[in-house]
Amino acid sequence: MNRQSLIIDCDPGVDDAVALMLAFAAPALELLAVTTVAGNVPGRLTQRNARMMRQIAGREDVPVFGGAERPMKRPPAGAGEFHGPEGLGDLEPFEPAAIVGDGPAANAIVDLVMRRPEGSVAVAVLGPMTNLALAMRREPRLAERLGPVVVMGGARSEGGNITASAEFNIWADPDAAAVVFGSGCSVVAFGLDVTHQVRATEPRIEAIEAVESEPARTATAMLRFSQRVERTVVGWQAAPLHDACPIAWLMAPELFELKPCRIEVETQSDLTRGHTAVEFRVDAAAARHHWAVKADGQGVFDLIAATLGAAA
Ligand code: RIB
Ligand code: CA
Repeated sequence: MNRQSLIIDCDPGVDDAVALMLAFAAPALELLAVTTVAGNVPGRLTQRNARMMRQIAGREDVPVFGGAERPMKRPPAGAGEFHGPEGLGDLEPFEPAAIVGDGPAANAIVDLVMRRPEGSVAVAVLGPMTNLALAMRREPRLAERLGPVVVMGGARSEGGNITASAEFNIWADPDAAAVVFGSGCSVVAFGLDVTHQVRATEPRIEAIEAVESEPARTATAMLRFSQRVERTVVGWQAAPLHDACPIAWLMAPELFELKPCRIEVETQSDLTRGHTAVEFRVDAAAARHHWAVKADGQGVFDLIAATLGAAA
């Protein structure tokens, strides 16, 4: 099997946690590291939460590096309403046994990517893009060395979820997102247009609930928390599972339809801060960006249930 070497940068966060459980259990992914960033909750919590997920998944072989505590220029953001004060819904927190790795996330990203063959290491960014932007600033050659950068972020036809025109990850640190999208690296962006097609309906949650393992029980707890928030705060019945989409694409790209494009991020206006302008009128062969437009939502959840089931 050709395994994809991967770094996951995230801000767990209940949907980040499900994405981590999927990645930790995926034989096709060689998880080199998990790096964390402040986003849904402060950085000290996202770092601890990633270590909690690692311990529950039995993957202490994967180093966790803490990263940026705040965006490059903006004040820290937060989304505790959707993730709970500790960031993992109502899961009882504990202090994981395995420690956090030495050095900040940006340095770990540079070191891991630059010492491997060009194009061989993918980075999945599931929160604000601060760590990857800082890594690019530290090592200007990073962008050309990277494999695919798969991002949960942005919104086009769906509109925003933090403001009328912006999705949270890009809004939280638009300057970092502008650095990454403008770096020349290859970016596959999974915005709300597609993550809203991947919703945790009751039967899909029950299929994961049926898997007898601690990672599956933890993923179910995250999904159940999101289900309650979606019903009480948003008024919908099934919550989108945003952060699993980039990971699912790396494992099963046939579950998604992408379109070549050019993406730029608004950083000047307060009203449209973090808006992702997605232009499809590009030379497809030369395009460095791709925007996910369709997803097989059932297929994504089948993949999660099957992957966790096989690892149980
Ligand atoms: O807008 C959805 C994104 O914001 C997800 O990554 C979620 O975890 C939050 O960070
Ligand atoms: Ca996230």
